[in-house]
Amino acid sequence: MPKTLKFPPGFLWGSAVSSYQVEGGIENSDWSRDYPAGKACDYYNRYEKYFDLAKELGQNIHRFSIEWSRIEPEEGKFDKAAVEHYKKMLLALRQRNIKSMVTIWHWTNPLWFARKGGWENSKSSEYFARFVKFAVPELDNLVDFWATLNEPGVLLSHGYLAGIHPPHKKSILGFAKVYGNLIKTHNAAYKIIHSFNQKAKVGIIYNATFVKSAHKDSIVEKICVKIWEYLRNRMFLNAVRNNADYLGLNYYFPDNIEFTPFKFPFIGMSNRSKEITDMGWEIFPEGIYHTLKDLKRYNLPIYITENGIADAKDAKRAKFIIDHLRWMHKAISEGVDVRGYLYWSLLDNFEWTYGFSKRFGLIEMDFGSLEARIRPSALKYAEICKSNRIILDIRY
Ligand code: FCB
Repeated sequence: MPKTLKFPPGFLWGSAVSSYQVEGGIENSDWSRDYPAGKACDYYNRYEKYFDLAKELGQNIHRFSIEWSRIEPEEGKFDKAAVEHYKKMLLALRQRNIKSMVTIWHWTNPLWFARKGGWENSKSSEYFARFVKFAVPELDNLVDFWATLNEPGVLLSHGYLAGIHPPHKKSILGFAKVYGNLIKTHNAAYKIIHSFNQKAKVGIIYNATFVKSAHKDSIVEKICVKIWEYLRNRMFLNAVRNNADYLGLNYYFPDNIEFTPFKFPFIGMSNRSKEITDMGWEIFPEGIYHTLKDLKRYNLPIYITENGIADAKDAKRAKFIIDHLRWMHKAISEGVDVRGYLYWSLLDNFEWTYGFSKRFGLIEMDFGSLEARIRPSALKYAEICKSNRIILDIRY
């Protein structure tokens, strides 16, 4: 008899996407200005076909985001038809018996909001609250899980420190303002959703990670690991933990702290791993286990809301998924309350500044013809989704 790892009954299995990366035709957001995604996967029109594929792959939860720039294209003017569209999508999921997790903000902002200073504006959380007050009551009876913000830390680091995402700033002051405003935004949105529906399940999606040191016995690195763990993993979550019914964890790679006494700036991130993805990201499945064990401190149910690999050849994906699931299973068996796993992504899509070159999908997309083809690794994942267990000792 092969050894199997069983997951808890009712465990949710699925995949995730975000509006800008898949929908196509989004022209009114800050990202469209700098990085046009064109028709992307045309998910806005073809969602039923993609939901059918998700169903075929045994998935029982789907995560997508609603696009603020569609729903509120001009300040204070709401487009009813855009909300109706998301309603239809939610109904299509219900018809297929697939639960929904709806992200309200997945990085893109309406142009009018960006022009007002975006998240640096001291009223940004109020603007967002107005949008939430309009959209949520329209959709709430069809939504299983609300997620307020996706990876606020990435907007902060990439948008306000490194300057590589819109609004392309390198500003400590901007960073500090946005940090505070995003906390306010989440906390306010949480309360608004609960004012409409006390039973709503509202969470935040955060990319905490496992922080390790490059050299086993470097004391400097050990101290920096502790400091970085706090800054990267806990500081933001500590400020929102009381307004969360669950935590969404996006895990991709660990952070390696390296001290280089002869090289400025002396301390930084290194990646010497041979096991990497097409993004150059280190493959370190054990990291999901340590991250989950650490998140247990918040005493909240956890969903893996993203975990995935850019792998155009589909040579590493099945092993990547199964290795992460094995470590996730270990965390569950040691008492971490993980209730679902959503692979990133259901289909190849627009990977932000990288465009369409990075292939994360269970489904391979031809961006010319928009033909969609299930990858072999997706079938392996489907076996797990359908049986709620992993059979060990099989070759991937
Ligand atoms: C995450 C983002 C998601 C996707 C993956 C690869 O940081 O939330 O939209 O781009 O990375």
